[in-house]
Amino acid sequence: MSDKTRVLIVEDDPGLQKQLKWALKSDFDLLLAENREQALQLFEKHQPPVVVHDLGLPPDERGVSEGHASIRQMLQQSPDTRIIIMTGKGDRKDAIELIGIGAHDFLGKPVDTDQLRLIIERAGFVSELQRASREARSSVDNGDELYLLPGVIGRSRVMRQVAEMVRKVAPTSASTFIQGPSGSGKELIARAIHELSERANEPFVAINCAAIPESLLESELFGHEKGAFTGADKRSIGRIEQANGGTLFLDEIGDMAYELQAKILRFLQERIIQRVGGKTDIPVDVRVVSATHQDLGQLIADGRFREDLYYRINEFELRLPPLSERENDVELIARHLLHRFAESHEKGQLHFTEDALLAIRRHDWQGNIRQLSNVINKAVILSSAEWIGPDDLGLAEDSEDFDQITLNNIPTLKQAREETELRLIMKAMRAHDNNVKDVAAHLGVSRQRVYELLRKHDIPF
Ligand SMILES: Nc1ncnc2c1ncn2[C@@H]1O[C@H](COP(=O)(O)OP(=O)(O)OP(=O)(O)O)[C@@H](O)[C@H]1O
Ligand SMILES: [Mg+2]
Repeated sequence: MSDKTRVLIVEDDPGLQKQLKWALKSDFDLLLAENREQALQLFEKHQPPVVVHDLGLPPDERGVSEGHASIRQMLQQSPDTRIIIMTGKGDRKDAIELIGIGAHDFLGKPVDTDQLRLIIERAGFVSELQRASREARSSVDNGDELYLLPGVIGRSRVMRQVAEMVRKVAPTSASTFIQGPSGSGKELIARAIHELSERANEPFVAINCAAIPESLLESELFGHEKGAFTGADKRSIGRIEQANGGTLFLDEIGDMAYELQAKILRFLQERIIQRVGGKTDIPVDVRVVSATHQDLGQLIADGRFREDLYYRINEFELRLPPLSERENDVELIARHLLHRFAESHEKGQLHFTEDALLAIRRHDWQGNIRQLSNVINKAVILSSAEWIGPDDLGLAEDSEDFDQITLNNIPTLKQAREETELRLIMKAMRAHDNNVKDVAAHLGVSRQRVYELLRKHDIPF
């Protein structure tokens, strides 16, 4: 294949077509079409990065409808294609309109071929840049990456969906509400939203409504003037004002006192605040992200949370699933945390034994990633050897098997079989240094079957 830029020329006038062909054929790999049907056929087949397009084509040589339709379709199929429009006397306006929907440039007739050559070269260059940047982007999204969002590790389908929603909502200023069990990463997601927004260089201010005594929360949020109350010996700027231009993260908003909820509602509606003890209206430009581990629906039903505030903070809702619903993200996160803590405690290289990994997978992490992180951190601090086992994690009983079965927790045969399968394959992979051929020989199954099992149990290989 030639490495010249491929260019499709759509022109029904045989004279002009010939002229272009002679002028450009030594510099570009040319395709020629004289009507819409031919153009679209060649376009689909050869995917040219650059198209030079006439507007007046048969059966509407005097109008622009055929050219319009063809260009629209090309842009729809492949928005990165650079389309250069050749315009006659009356159709400059149409060309400009097409640029509005993604065409690259236009050139008046009679065509100056030297100028056209330059425009094509530049268009080819831009198209190549766009292709390269799209490839780079998709390799970030391709699933082999550890991070789905800044700081957020995962590969599971549910978390991919969350990440996609975060990417969509982040650049908007929509008030975003994050619901998720404790330790599931609500604050991390709030920060990711901030980082991926246009406010990223402005402040991110977090306030935990459950951690601050009720009597102080209002002045903490809104600030106060000197003398506003006993002890207010100087003016203080509240968190809302501190977040001006940036993002305010209202954590555990479900714990906010009912009266204060009305004041927050007013701030969200009017985007102005008054400091406690002050009379001046202060306009603020703040994006609000809030979170709670509580069921706000229930709090509303119980009359403890204002429904009108709920709708204000919840222009967009994100639900974070518990760790137990994230396929095998737990292992991915655990390995990463082990590495990180080993580094920060200067412990050199540490590894989980396969029993430890099994125990981690099987454990019910009620406290989600926060709990996982605490357990691993502690194990790293206490570790004296290179290998971290289930007992180092305090998960020893979890990996016992038959002795643990009582009349009340007899598993089904299927569960027991899957469990054994998982344990054996992990052990064999370890024993044979991840050599699938040897693992297959050892377990007496085909290599194909080993791959199936690895995929089924989501074991990295
Ligand atoms: N997907 C993840 N990848 C890596 N680390 C994570 C992930 N999710 C959470 N963490 C880490 O787990 C810890 C808990 O996360 P975070 O504080 O965001 O959770 P939370 O839902 O706000 O918890 P809480 O309900 O306790 O306030 C943090 O140290 C965070 O960095
Ligand atoms: Mg939190």
